[in-house]
Amino acid sequence: MNPPEGGQPAEAAGVAARVRAARVVADVLAGRSTLPEALARHGGAEADDGFVRELCFGTARHAFRLDHEVRRHLRQAPRERDLDVHALLLLGGYQLAHMDVPDHAAVHATVAAARSLKKPWASGLVNAVLRKLSRSDLRGDDPELPDDVRLNHPQWWLDRLRAHWPDAWPDMVAAGNARPPMTLRSRRKRALALAALAEAGIEAHPGRVTDSAIYLARPLPVGALPGFASGDLSVQDEGAQLAARLLGALPGERILDACAAPGGKALHLAQMEPGARILALDVDPKRCTRIRENVTRAQAAIEVKAGDGRRPESWWDGVPFDRMLVDAPCSATGILRRQPDVRLLRHAEDLPTLTRLQGDLLESLWPLLRNGGRLLYCTCSVLAEENDDVIAAFLAAHGDAAVIEIAADWGRTTRCGRQLLPTADAHDGFYFALLERRRGGR
Ligand SMILES: C[S@@+](CC[C@H](N)C(=O)[O-])C[C@H]1O[C@@H](n2cnc3c(N)ncnc32)[C@H](O)[C@@H]1O
Repeated sequence: MNPPEGGQPAEAAGVAARVRAARVVADVLAGRSTLPEALARHGGAEADDGFVRELCFGTARHAFRLDHEVRRHLRQAPRERDLDVHALLLLGGYQLAHMDVPDHAAVHATVAAARSLKKPWASGLVNAVLRKLSRSDLRGDDPELPDDVRLNHPQWWLDRLRAHWPDAWPDMVAAGNARPPMTLRSRRKRALALAALAEAGIEAHPGRVTDSAIYLARPLPVGALPGFASGDLSVQDEGAQLAARLLGALPGERILDACAAPGGKALHLAQMEPGARILALDVDPKRCTRIRENVTRAQAAIEVKAGDGRRPESWWDGVPFDRMLVDAPCSATGILRRQPDVRLLRHAEDLPTLTRLQGDLLESLWPLLRNGGRLLYCTCSVLAEENDDVIAAFLAAHGDAAVIEIAADWGRTTRCGRQLLPTADAHDGFYFALLERRRGGR
């Protein structure tokens, strides 16, 4: 879900919120966990949750620039054990540059938060650095800045975007740095859902790529949405809403969603064709709980299993599937605006491991597909090495696999599939390749 924008809490709560946010951001800076994992670990009073999320997501969104500006005022690089103090400096910079908090209040509360970290030197440092930052331009476009700082993306990522998408990369960078809209999928006719939202005083507009997507003018807690509790509305990016449509489903068919958590696409498949028999698999048992929650809320008929897609012998009953969705784990380079911590956590060295996993999943799952069956491979990556390259290698090794062309008025045709590029105000970036299993092969 998108983080709702957080209002500034009362003074004591504001200090506690900043301490919590610093612990969360420090975990991400240390590469220990993702933002949602760290937020769950350092959970606290619900009242300041929106504010803490805003501090953490915003700081991650602007992390490269903030880090650069902060380090200009440090005599030495932050030590591993002091990442909580460094996180407070970044959070302080974020408040000064991007939040609607008066400068003096931001500095005062962040210095107070530093005091409670029980490092006697920290409050003086935070005070001195934030006062300097409050007199600097923390967001103006300065061509002298290094690219990664100016564009808030790692250099390896920029290099690939420039090489793969020479005409589109500036827009892709802008999309990655944007604040994402909250996007819904309507199970019912979209006009009915839009009318129900309007009646509840919620401003919204329809998406252009699908007939089910709805964009909210402002993010809201899901509990405030008419139709969320019943499963009529789900939170799902518009690009992600294309997957179930592309795969298709018929009554009675056995469908495997091999990498299913948290279950957005499996639920869409089940709602699109309630007569299909869907198995939602995910290797992570904790994430399977998220699928079950979604399935229960929407009262969908989906079987959920924890299991490794690369080891079907541990979970498959031997009956072939008619269709399969392989929404593979990937770099998440197409959804940076929704997962801004990816810019800090993902490294170029991760790519070979990911592409091996993607290829291994296809390799292990393909024999489970019946002749004439279809497999949709999809990622939220914009990198050819995780997309066309994986599919091209798979096709070269499997004479019984054929590409079905995806004819559409969205995205770009690629060698083996279709790429939707990320936007700042509408859909995320996704890649899709549709394969059919042909008897006997080429
Ligand atoms: C991109 S996410 C899937 C999102 C999901 N399809 C949706 O629409 O809500 C990729 C998922 O793959 C799972 N995964 C990673 N390796 C796996 C494996 N070897 N077998 C099955 N699932 C795996 C991860 O736990 C993660 O939940």
